[in-house]
Amino acid sequence: MISPQHVLSFKSQALCIEKVPVAQLVKRYGSPLYVYSKKALTDSYQALNQAFAGQNVQICYAVKANSNLSLLREFRKLGAGCDLVSYGEWFRAEKAKIPERLRVLSGVAKTKDEFEKLLQRPGAGVGSVHIESVMELELLAALAKSHKNKVSVALRFNPDVDAKTLDKISTGRKKDKFGLTEEEILTVAQRFSKNPWINFAGLSIHIGSQITKLSPYEKAFKLLKSLCSKVEMVLGRPLEYVDLGGGIGIQYQHEVPIDLIKYAALVKKYFSNYSKVLIEPGRSLIANAGFLVSTVVCSKVRGEHGTLILDAGMNDLMRPALYGAFHQIWTGKKPRQLTVARPWDVVGGICESTDLFARARPLSVAGKAGEIVVFLSAGAYGFSMSNSYNTRPRVAEVLVDGKESVLIRKRETLDDLMEHELTSNFLKSR
Ligand code: LLP
Repeated sequence: MISPQHVLSFKSQALCIEKVPVAQLVKRYGSPLYVYSKKALTDSYQALNQAFAGQNVQICYAVKANSNLSLLREFRKLGAGCDLVSYGEWFRAEKAKIPERLRVLSGVAKTKDEFEKLLQRPGAGVGSVHIESVMELELLAALAKSHKNKVSVALRFNPDVDAKTLDKISTGRKKDKFGLTEEEILTVAQRFSKNPWINFAGLSIHIGSQITKLSPYEKAFKLLKSLCSKVEMVLGRPLEYVDLGGGIGIQYQHEVPIDLIKYAALVKKYFSNYSKVLIEPGRSLIANAGFLVSTVVCSKVRGEHGTLILDAGMNDLMRPALYGAFHQIWTGKKPRQLTVARPWDVVGGICESTDLFARARPLSVAGKAGEIVVFLSAGAYGFSMSNSYNTRPRVAEVLVDGKESVLIRKRETLDDLMEHELTSNFLKSR
């Protein structure tokens, strides 16, 4: 698995992403700015894919991690399918031309309206729909019947396993809102086994995110395998596939990620009898291929205490404010030897005290306006969770490939932000 600094280097003191100096990117595209490395994205994908060499494992990239169309196209070229959680993400997969058979549709709140749109396509425009509740299956079965459109489904199993990750990103415990229990799965498998509009193709799990131990996976795989046998007994035939979800953790700071070869061996140990196994990694493919570049607006130094105020805020990168997540911060210029790093509280300009990227972080900056800092490991759940709070347009996104860079999402404008707001005659007359 690649490290946060996989494509970073200093050339004549200037920090470069691949071969492009970050300062040059800021000059050309402005700040703040999300920057992705094609090399890091490709290396991440290939490391995972190669770990599964010789196994029938299909990587379905979890689009929610970063849904930029250019990046989706890169993943498609590498052979990825995709895990989608809304009609919106399905629409992106369509635009990025990811083959329908390689799309799975998850999501706990798929609506009638979304299903109606999808059912315009044979098989609902996906390889399989991952069912999250009994009511959802009832709804889909009724709609598939009325559209005379047979749909393949997998039931998402909630194995009640603690993924030993951050509480806020755990999904596989009974108390979490995701998936069906074993009892529910066996009941609906029985109820719908003869339904002509539903093809029970498989079972899926996803127990959480940023998982750095193999043991929760092993626990969940064991339970899933045993449930597969029970469901197969009910159906009187083998299932077509299992989907093992995503969740592979990465190095942000000192974390030691799981060994991908060992992970692949675990998959083989439990599921080698299936001709198709899907996995849904998001973070591990894109987090360390992305950077948030930001510029110092001003600073305040009061005795020992320094506050570094950036042009990026929690609206651009929510993870520290939302989960207390750690991101390494590098400076745009290599600190001269003997420069003493002083601790800074690194903050954005949003009117919230949680707009705090790091507390007392040692950084070799002077606190002068215009100094550049770079947040590492920001490719996953960075831009995709960003928003325009405080009427701050979302930032631009750029893809770097060797010495080249290309804009892959324009910086939003204030007009973009206000485009949907209306002044009705009713209000005008007041
Ligand atoms: N499959 C399903 C059904 C999921 O819910 C998720 C992530 C994934 C796959 C991909 O998981 P990954 O490989 O990226 O761990 N915003 C949080 C992470 C939320 C993850 C939500 N589900 C964060 O910034 O840490």
